[in-house]
Amino acid sequence: MANSVVIGSQWGDEGKAKVIDYLAMDVDIVVRYQGGANAGHTVIVGGKKFVFHLVPSGIISPDKICIIANGVVFDEEQFFQEVDELAEQGINLKGRLFVSDIAHLVLPHHKTQDAQTGAKIGTTGRGIGPAYSEKALRCGLRTSSSKRLAPMLIDSAHYLYDAWKKGKNILFEGAQGTFLDIDHGTYPFVTSSNTTIGSVYTGSGISHIDEVIGIVKVYTTRVGNGPFPTELLDEDGQNLQTIGGEKGATTGRPRRCGWFDSVLLRKSIQLNGFTKLAITKLDVLNSFKKIKICTKYDIDGKITEQFPSNPEALAKAKPVYEVFDGWQCSLDGCKTFEGLPENAKIFLNRLKELCYNVKFNMISIGPDRSQTIGIK
Ligand code: IMP
Ligand code: MG
Repeated sequence: MANSVVIGSQWGDEGKAKVIDYLAMDVDIVVRYQGGANAGHTVIVGGKKFVFHLVPSGIISPDKICIIANGVVFDEEQFFQEVDELAEQGINLKGRLFVSDIAHLVLPHHKTQDAQTGAKIGTTGRGIGPAYSEKALRCGLRTSSSKRLAPMLIDSAHYLYDAWKKGKNILFEGAQGTFLDIDHGTYPFVTSSNTTIGSVYTGSGISHIDEVIGIVKVYTTRVGNGPFPTELLDEDGQNLQTIGGEKGATTGRPRRCGWFDSVLLRKSIQLNGFTKLAITKLDVLNSFKKIKICTKYDIDGKITEQFPSNPEALAKAKPVYEVFDGWQCSLDGCKTFEGLPENAKIFLNRLKELCYNVKFNMISIGPDRSQTIGIK
């Protein structure tokens, strides 16, 4: 049946895990295909908080198969720590969690090396760059079968092809975000994998994707260093950070915060071919009197609507804003788009227009699974 992929449209931390958890209700298999334990995915179900770094966040739904595919750099110690924590929470993993037998391993020396060389970039220190480097140098180690891991190892590309042919629904869970992509992101301030659409094919071996869902947070954040045109260093930025709980799930670092950037988003749509957008964290804007959207950049006095590929030009970009009146009320109890406050609808309609009118498939209005407006 349908294969869908979920990709962060900004710099990561768009709220992917919540969207995946929501979409996973209709799928049979959830797959991670790039990155590693640098990801931090938080899901809240019934007030209970789960944080994942390696295990696909679909694992919370009791009947899903979860797969870590070949494109992930696999940290066995971290993996079993998560497995043990999940088991302690009463989540049954038996026979439904598998790992590719050709994924590359993250080893202790990769983390040591990352701690020494990753500071300029502001990496998560999880050994991701050094592990991918050894993979590229063709001296990496792959998931050799330790006793505990052996029963979980599979040829995941074959497994997924077979499942697809049998009519299963498969959801591919992207980690990080579009502008952390090693090619298209703000190099060198990027991660060491491709985070854009191509990596779902190489990182899992799948050859067919039906739906590409972009996760779009209604403001922008970034952890670590690098250019960020709409970054706010004022009270609004502070408020976004506090209200949005914008602290790294992996490193605990406060995230840099700024207004929504539609120049960035259009580039993200160009790169990934999003067929739908999942809108997240709308409720974080509830208390703001004025809300801004960046529509264009001013680069050296030249106005442009196109995101520059050159990071030095990006570093000089000054945002040109449109200003909106806030709705200044809670969104609790809103069940449909029509039921949202008038100013929230005006804001979202304009956002959509600035994003090539790609359809929304959901709007998240709070961290819990129940605080979600589904759009048909
Ligand atoms: P690395 O992936 O640990 O090598 O870090 C490279 C850059 O990507 C740093 O700026 C990190 O903060 C950022 N990064 C890595 N993983 C994530 C993520 O899951 N969310 C947000 N930023 C991330
Ligand atoms: Mg995260």
